[in-house]
This record gives sequence, C-alpha cells and structure tokens, in this order.
Amino acid sequence: MSNSPARRPTTTDIRAAKDAPEPLACLTCYTAQMARAIDEHVDLILVGDSLGMTIYGYDTTLPVTLDMMVAHGQAVVRSTQSTFVVVDLPFGSYEASEEQAFRSSSRILAETGAQAVKLEGGVEVAQTVRFLVDRGIPVMAHVGLMPQRIQALGGFRAQGRTPETALAVIRDAEAVAAAGAFAVVVEAVPVDTGKRVTEAVPIPTIGIGAGPHCDGQILVIHDALGLFPAFTPRFVKRYAELGAAMSDAAAQYASEVRSGAFPAPEHTFKAVGGTANPAPREP
Ligand code: KIV
Repeated sequence: MSNSPARRPTTTDIRAAKDAPEPLACLTCYTAQMARAIDEHVDLILVGDSLGMTIYGYDTTLPVTLDMMVAHGQAVVRSTQSTFVVVDLPFGSYEASEEQAFRSSSRILAETGAQAVKLEGGVEVAQTVRFLVDRGIPVMAHVGLMPQRIQALGGFRAQGRTPETALAVIRDAEAVAAAGAFAVVVEAVPVDTGKRVTEAVPIPTIGIGAGPHCDGQILVIHDALGLFPAFTPRFVKRYAELGAAMSDAAAQYASEVRSGAFPAPEHTFKAVGGTANPAPREP
C-alpha cells in the first residue's frame, strides 16, 4: 500500500492489505520529530508501549501508564498526516474488565486522535475485542510473544516453536480475528508458524520476527535506527547507526567547547545601534 499525503488510510485500507501484492510497511514511533521523518514512508505507525524501554529506560514494558501512551500518541498524531496511527493499551489498562478496556480505549482515541488501539492476547481477550469493536473502537491484536506477559513467559523468547504451541498461536489469531480485530501483530514465531497464522486468518498479519509470509512487517524504530544498543533481537535489521552518530557528535561538540572552537563568529549575534557603554563610576 502506498500512502497518500492527502489522507490517512482507514481500517478498511489496512484490511485490504490482506489481498494486496505489497506487504504493509509499519514502524513504531513515539515522538514528534521521528514521526515527521517517517510519515510519508510508512503505512502504519504504532505508538507502542515499547516506549517504556526505548524512551524511558525501563527493562520491560510493564511500568508504562495510560498517561504516557496518551502523551506520546498526541505527539505522533500531531506530527503526521498520511499514516494510520495505532496506540498501545498498556499493561493493566484493559485486562480487569471489558468496561475498563473501553474506558482506556475511548480515552486514547478521544485524547490523541489515533485511529485504533492495540492490545495483547488471543483467545482470552477475544470477548474484550468484541466488546470494543461493537462500541466503535478499532482494535489491532497482538499474539505470539506478548511482552506484557514477560514475567509469566520468563523472558523475551520465541513462541510457537512446537506443534502444540504453534497451534495455540494460530488459535489465538483466529479468536481475535473472529472477534472483529482489523489486524493482528504476530511477534517472534518461526517462519512456518507466521505463514500458517497468515493463511488461517482473514485479516492482515503484521509480523515482527515472524518471517516473510506475513501481510506486513513492523520493527521498533529504535532497533532499526541503531538507537537501542542494550539488546538487538535476532529479527532486527539495523538501517542506520544513529546511536553511534549521536555519540560522535556529542564528543566533537564537547571537544570544540573545551578548545574554544565553538562558538565561532557565525554562531554569535551582533549588537545593533552601537555598544552601550556603562556610565562612568563615581570616584
Ligand atoms: O510495543 C511495541 O512496540 C510493539 C511492537 C513490538 C509490535 O508491540
């Protein structure tokens, strides 16, 4: 799908990617300048709760709050015109009840202007997905590795590697699709599982570490730009080394300040109307 500067895609456009020749190109993004830089290039931006790790420096996504998601969702929507924007429901903002999920989702849509929310889970959240969709909330689901369940899973590990667990991932995707999700993220599963999930559901699968057969791909932007050196998952391709470039720039700046090379005359203001001399001091 190539996006148009004139209008954002709709959920109908995203769903149509299921039968399109080109996969959807998606990235996470959390801040205004980055959103401006990628707006014309990607079909979908996810304001993911991965911001807990990439922006706030936590080890997991669990401490992320709804207030954080709203603030970053607003920054991204404000700074884009042609991309479909999805905002994550953070851990603890939707699991307690369908009503809680609706309150959190409606706040995200009303306060950010995003087109949709995303939540993690399969069979066990299908009823919540149905509740939200029936009340006008477009929902993207997320199966396979679910980072909000990292404590239960015992780490960031690939899922669906055995016949039984592969079937469980497929059942999860089928359940959320049947409940009305318009797309589903499939994270960290073997290529064959990604292919089988994609064949099993009538909605686009957006893969992250799920192989080439998905209907779209997504990467965490800090991973793709080389801005998250702490941990690079196997499925990430780095398209730039901005972390190293930032460090080099800071080193050069500090060295020029210390040597007096910065600021140079072209970085200074000139006075206008002559120089005001202080009045002579009284003896
Ligand atoms: O929070 C996030 O960035 C995500 C992606 C890993 C898909 O859910």
